[in-house]
Amino acid sequence: GEISNQSDKMQVAEQVSDFVKDGDVIGVGSGSTAFLALQAIAERVKKERMNVQTIPTSKEAALNCTVLGLPVTALTAARPDWGFDGADEVDGTKRLIKGRGGALFAEKLVMASAQKTYILVDESKFVSKLGAAFAVPIEIDPRAIHLVETKLYEAFSTEAVSLRMAASKDGPVITEAGNVLLDVKFEEITSNMEREISALPGVIESGLFLDYPVEILSV
Ligand code: A5P
Repeated sequence: GEISNQSDKMQVAEQVSDFVKDGDVIGVGSGSTAFLALQAIAERVKKERMNVQTIPTSKEAALNCTVLGLPVTALTAARPDWGFDGADEVDGTKRLIKGRGGALFAEKLVMASAQKTYILVDESKFVSKLGAAFAVPIEIDPRAIHLVETKLYEAFSTEAVSLRMAASKDGPVITEAGNVLLDVKFEEITSNMEREISALPGVIESGLFLDYPVEILSV
């Protein structure tokens, strides 16, 4: 239920704060689980007067770092020693689907730049078949909506494509980079698909994270 779920997340968050070393540059993920870890990290950094820098994966994460007193830098200035993030689905071979929060582009840039990323998940995120329940978010240039939709149906086992609509305003969700998101349901997710989707004109990035140096932390 909701309560045990929350305390599961807290336990995972505490684990991550143990990994912080003085001088670390840390990639900071987005979402509710990553936020709990960030709070735990900020507490430890403050208590032990450590020097760390953060590389946030979204404006929301950047704001949280600033509010918690953690110095923020960028990928243009530093490389993360390690990072942490959440996920929407994790399978038995550490393949992930991310992007419910819409920050998948920066999340992938930061993850690809770090030697290791801790993925913080409770039991509800583990699946036996990746993408069986969750649609794969794909960030695209708004001009490519029809092109990408057509190509997805032509080249993949695509079952459904929907443009993500905003809950709090009229119209589609606009990402931090000014793009839109397609949520795409596939019958099958194959190992080449992350690369093949990225190669479609107009695609910025997909929420498929199939081969990254991640360590899954769960309780
Ligand atoms: C953000 O774009 C997502 O990839 C998040 O990492 C994911 O949605 C996990 O969020 P929760 O920790 O809130 O479930």
